Amino acid sequence: MPFQLRPRWPGTRGAGAAAQTVALLALSACSGTYPNSIFNAQTDFNRDAVGGLFNLIIWLGAAVFVFVEVLLVYTMWKYRSRPGQAEPKHVHGNTTLEIMWTAIPALILAWIAVPTVRTIFRTEATAPASALQIEVIGHQWWWEFRYPEYKIVTANELYLPLGRTVNFALKTNDVVHSFWIPSLAGKRDLIANRTNYLWFTPDSATQKAFNGVCVEFCGASHANMRFRAFVVSPTEFASWAAYQATPGAVTLFKAPAAAAARAGTKGTVAARPAAPAGPVMMPSLTQAGYFFPADSMPAHIRPTTPLPAGLTFDDNLLAQGDAARGADLIVNRMGGGCIGCHTIGGTIMTSVIGPNLTHVGSRNTIAAGLYPNDAKHLALWIKNARLMKPGILMPTLGKGQIDPQIKQVPATATLTDQQIADIVAYLRALK
Ligand code: CUA
Repeated sequence: MPFQLRPRWPGTRGAGAAAQTVALLALSACSGTYPNSIFNAQTDFNRDAVGGLFNLIIWLGAAVFVFVEVLLVYTMWKYRSRPGQAEPKHVHGNTTLEIMWTAIPALILAWIAVPTVRTIFRTEATAPASALQIEVIGHQWWWEFRYPEYKIVTANELYLPLGRTVNFALKTNDVVHSFWIPSLAGKRDLIANRTNYLWFTPDSATQKAFNGVCVEFCGASHANMRFRAFVVSPTEFASWAAYQATPGAVTLFKAPAAAAARAGTKGTVAARPAAPAGPVMMPSLTQAGYFFPADSMPAHIRPTTPLPAGLTFDDNLLAQGDAARGADLIVNRMGGGCIGCHTIGGTIMTSVIGPNLTHVGSRNTIAAGLYPNDAKHLALWIKNARLMKPGILMPTLGKGQIDPQIKQVPATATLTDQQIADIVAYLRALK
């Protein structure tokens, strides 16, 4: 049947279908839970400040909408044209009506303005001095988190103690980024040559794990600049913080006494630890302090990024990776390789271009939240990271691997799968 305009009131069947559609839409909006939504308020910020204001405005807006629509439909129906009807009387102007429809909206806007201004002042206010201070530094494309109070430098995973106000000082290392954990607070930009602040108290968190994202376009891997926030009990936080502040590598490898003495007598690089030899000290989980168990992460928190086609690793090697050999390779033998960009506390690696790896084994994700932190993903990441996250600084290291940016095998691509498996064993042990 060809489409035709039907200039008449819709029949009862049409009205019934429309009502059904509206009802279905309304019901679908109510069903299910949305853990990444701002309405899933878990903090004073989202509940009292933003949530309260949003609810007030949505209900006032809904009331005005319904009032206007009912009036409109009623008028259309009552004054519809009828056969043989005379021309209606023309009128112009009605002072009473005009004053009313100016005054009533003005009153409604004034009513909304009070809580709006109050919320703006609340969200722009200075945090209480007792707040936990966290520095957030945006990088293309990952997040650096510093806890000056605890001397912790970490990346891409935030730990927040339940009930304590936390104050974020937001800065960028390069371009403009924007920090957003939808369930915990509003967005705030990270701008060059300026520090922005954002503070809230996770006082009503019924969940423990949250997704965070960059919400300002910042280049090729903007969509790959994610992080996780874990709201944990004060005891769990204290345990996590205490251990994160220690140099993980020192507890992992005890330098042989003879080698340490030799380094001391030379008087040159006394701070440089000797190549690890002898038994590798693996800290137990209790020693490593609390961290959020990866298998407790709900489905919406787990990384689901697919692996690039054609990137493979010999899984058998992963089981045979030797942490001591990996440490020797990464710290002592790779020249400008890992040392050029990363820090591992307790070793000579102190560069701050890439994420701090001191406790990388205690993180649940790698590559700014893109992939799970397991041996397989870590191995593939070291082998050819640029295939897994376009545009990044991390060079292609796997022997014979083609760098997707320069479309050829770069000079850095020298590590065999066995060497990568050894490095992975070391990094995994850095709990
Ligand atoms: Cu950082 Cu978008």
